[in-house]
Amino acid sequence: MSTVHVIDHPLIQHKLTLMRQIETGTKDFRELLNEIAMLMCYEVTRELPLEEVEIETPICKCKSKVIAGKKLGVVPILRAGLGMVEGFVKLVPACKVGHIGLYRDPETHMPVEYYCKLPADAQERELIVVDPMLATGGSSAAAIQFLKDRGCFNIKLVCLVGCPEGIEVLKNEHPDVDIYIAAIDEKLNEHKYIVPGLGDAGDRLFGTK
Ligand code: PRP
Ligand code: URA
Repeated sequence: MSTVHVIDHPLIQHKLTLMRQIETGTKDFRELLNEIAMLMCYEVTRELPLEEVEIETPICKCKSKVIAGKKLGVVPILRAGLGMVEGFVKLVPACKVGHIGLYRDPETHMPVEYYCKLPADAQERELIVVDPMLATGGSSAAAIQFLKDRGCFNIKLVCLVGCPEGIEVLKNEHPDVDIYIAAIDEKLNEHKYIVPGLGDAGDRLFGTK
């Protein structure tokens, strides 16, 4: 069964409160998302395996630790997930970035795929799917299924705001995928928006409304 890690670090919670506020404009929203993504990257990578290597300091030779094991890939769900990529790439500069384009049909609220481009060696990487919103869970579940259909099985999901419905869908459809999330809000409204949430993440990030 997947584990849900609620990342309640005070810096993340403070920045998320600013992002939620209706008066926060595109520039600040973008910067805050970038900063939170960086902080979440720090938490998600906490369990990465280490190995010892021989190095030489100006004083002497010694053993020191570096990250071992599988290399990372970040996979934003377009559009809003794009706002989280920079934060990850800053901390893990060697990671590769794949893209999955999905939008929610406004009538059915079901995800519709329009783009998918992954690193050539995606199957050998630990993939971190990023999307600020986990509402019905349809988009994240579909994105993870795309990855599995292409032979990728080492996957984590990082979101900012979710709700019990979306988490339940993810747990049922992808019990092997751990979820890292900053807040689990109360519920979905009749338009399948998270309450209280932060509104439409893509529109706020790109200033399209
Ligand atoms: C938003 C968000 C998620 C999805 C979450 O994307 O970024 O991908 O909705 O909703 P769900 O859990 O109910 O699937 P949206 O479809 O608005 O596309 P956009 O990022 O291009 O605006
Ligand atoms: N997509 C968003 O951007 N916000 C929500 O609350 C739900 C889906």
